This record gives sequence, C-alpha cells and structure tokens, in this order.
Amino acid sequence: MEKNNKVMDVEDIHTYYGESYVIQGLSLCVQECEAVSILGRNGVGKTTTLRSIMGLTPPRSGKIRIGGEDTTHWPAHRKAKLGVAYVPAERHIFPGLTVEENLKLAACPGNGSNAWSIERVYDQFPVLSNRIKQDGATLSGGEQQILAIGRALVSNPKIIILDEPSQGLAPLIVELVTEIVVNFCVKSGITLLVVEQNHRMALKVANRHYLMGTKGRISRIATTQELVDDPQIIQNHLAV
Ligand SMILES: Nc1ncnc2c1ncn2[C@@H]1O[C@H](COP(=O)(O)OP(=O)(O)OP(=O)(O)O)[C@@H](O)[C@H]1O
Ligand SMILES: [Mg+2]
Repeated sequence: MEKNNKVMDVEDIHTYYGESYVIQGLSLCVQECEAVSILGRNGVGKTTTLRSIMGLTPPRSGKIRIGGEDTTHWPAHRKAKLGVAYVPAERHIFPGLTVEENLKLAACPGNGSNAWSIERVYDQFPVLSNRIKQDGATLSGGEQQILAIGRALVSNPKIIILDEPSQGLAPLIVELVTEIVVNFCVKSGITLLVVEQNHRMALKVANRHYLMGTKGRISRIATTQELVDDPQIIQNHLAV
C-alpha cells in the first residue's frame, strides 16, 4: 500500500518581490506529524518561503497543497481556517492588547483531550499566567515568543509554522522555547515546519531538514541523525 500522508506539499514555487526573483524553484513536503526545518544563511529566502506557503507573498508559479487541497491562491486567513498557524519572526503581538486579549483573539475550539484552551496555556506557561493583564507589547522578547506560540496553540492548528523562534533570545530562553516547541508542538502530534539559523535548536526540534542555498534552492535534505553523524554536511552546505 502506498503511503501518502503529505500534509504540506510545495511543488516548484517561484516567488518575486516586484522584479526581484527571490525563490527560484523550491519544493518541499511535510508528512503528517512530522517536524521539518529549513536551515539557511541570512537572506537566502527562508521567510519568503514561509510567506509564500501562507499566501502572504504568493508564488508566481508552482503549487502549494495543504491537507490535500490546492491552496496555491488562497489568502492567509483561509489557510489559517484550514488549520495552519504561522508565527512570524517578529511575533506580531498585538500592541495595546493584553496577554489575555492576544490569546482570546486567536482562540478556536479544538477537539479531544489534546485541545488547547487559554486556561491550558496559563497552566503550561506560568510566565504568561503571571502577566494576563499586561500589554503584550511590553513583554520581553522571550515572553513574546512564548505568547506567540501560545496564541498559535489556542487556535488548535494541524500545522504550526515557526520563523526563527530563537531569534534575538538569550541562550537560556532559547532552551525554554525549544522545550515548549518539542513538548507541546512536536510530541502532541502537531505537524511542524520551522525555519532556523540556530542549528542546535533545529536539530532538537525537527527530524528532517532542508538545507537552503541562495534564491531558495535546496541543496540537501537530511535527517537529524545524518546531520549529527556528519556535522560537515551543514558546514559544506551553509558555509558563507
Ligand atoms: N519586501 C521585500 N521586498 C523586496 N525584497 C525583499 C523583501 N523581503 C525580502 N526581500 C529580499 O528577498 C531575499 C530573501 O529574503 P528573506 O527574508 O526571505 O530571507 P531569509 O532567509 O528569511 O533571511 P533572514 O535569515 O535574514 O531572515 C533577500 O534578498 C531580501 O533582501
Ligand atoms: Mg527570515
């Protein structure tokens, strides 16, 4: 029996900002419950890839299938309704809104015992429960990242897309965010696509990795085991 559990299937996308041809033919797929990373240097097109997948900067050609649907031309809000939560690198905490209001705006009822409620977020992330009435924009970088992940979780998504969750965070906070992603996204069966420049974090959270060169070109796909066994692979593919 052929197994085809592709939750996300990106086929040969080409994306531009005006005349600037940024993603020159990228394909990737993510299987159900898989955690996949995209590793690449500054400016190679990682964020643009995520924006293309989300419909924020749609590709000029190629196909993006999510959950079996051809979503290539769908706007972001429609993809969100399909169960895709996107956490941009800037986190986009709504300023002027409290932690609680930020969560409430994203909340969407889920099914089963694994469903996320705002109360469950407070239980699991005490750092947020101590700041319920605080303006989200006044949280520290790490707290904002945790709020952004909490906000993704309460939407009870099938897929979470994270853009550089470790960006700008102190090492200890990176550890905490890594634990949160592993324990509450990956282990609970949410499919994950994460972009990272922090290889250590990527190897901890994802089991398969796309190494991206300039213009979104994938030069290698490797499992965590392969990258751990041979660190030279990352060196060779992502060297400046
Ligand atoms: N809004 C935009 N208009 C024009 N060019 C852009 C825009 N956003 C990004 N670019 C360019 O597209 C290319 C890819 O950018 P992108 O942000 O996708 O890279 P990245 O891999 O996420 O980089 P970083 O590691 O710095 O986050 C870069 O050359 C960048 O300058
Ligand atoms: Mg980026």
